[in-house]
Amino acid sequence: MPAEAFDTVPAEPGAPAAPAGAPAVDPGPGHAHRHLRSALGHFATGVTVVTCVDAAGAWVGLTVNSFNSLSLDPPLVLWSLRRESPAAPAFLAARRFTVNVLAESQLDLSRRFASRARDRFALGDWRLGAQGAPVLAGAAAALECESASHQAAGDHWLFIGRVLACHEQPVAPLVYQGGQYRRLGDTL
Ligand SMILES: Cc1cc2nc3c(=O)[nH]c(=O)nc-3n(C[C@H](O)[C@H](O)[C@H](O)COP(=O)(O)O)c2cc1C
Repeated sequence: MPAEAFDTVPAEPGAPAAPAGAPAVDPGPGHAHRHLRSALGHFATGVTVVTCVDAAGAWVGLTVNSFNSLSLDPPLVLWSLRRESPAAPAFLAARRFTVNVLAESQLDLSRRFASRARDRFALGDWRLGAQGAPVLAGAAAALECESASHQAAGDHWLFIGRVLACHEQPVAPLVYQGGQYRRLGDTL
């Protein structure tokens, strides 16, 4: 990330003001990283749990908000996974994955699938989906996908999936913005 990209970003709240005429001090890569995370956090997203089955048959899943739609024809979606994730080998090898779009009532599932809990699937009503990856009952939507491609992108793997089947329910989705879980607001 080039430092210039953050030249116009104001100092963090509470940071001491630089004296007038003082030479610019490079705040270091950690500073740029925090500002990037902060800026990106303004983008409100839903929350998903992406799942697959590993080579030994164990269910694997984690909380993901990098999910997005990519194409309608063909039906493609994308998401990214931290390259150092212990789940990476399973998703790289998996032919199918499911994107479970969490309902507002499933906040505890988001926390669990972002935690170090060993048996994450002990919470929630999970079934093996028809396409071969775990599907969550009560989710706002579930997109059962064929893993179409993956590529290394910086410190993440970028996955593209082709949607084979989708399900939806009329429940309020969970929202994530500014590092906080939120309720969906009013229609404008
Ligand atoms: C709201 C939210 C969104 C997240 N989105 C992602 C994501 O898109 N990609 C990712 O790799 N980790 C994401 N994480 C972090 C993982 O859920 C977390 O690191 C989890 O422990 C990873 O599982 P693992 O230990 O099996 O790698 C997110 C966490 C939260 C709370």
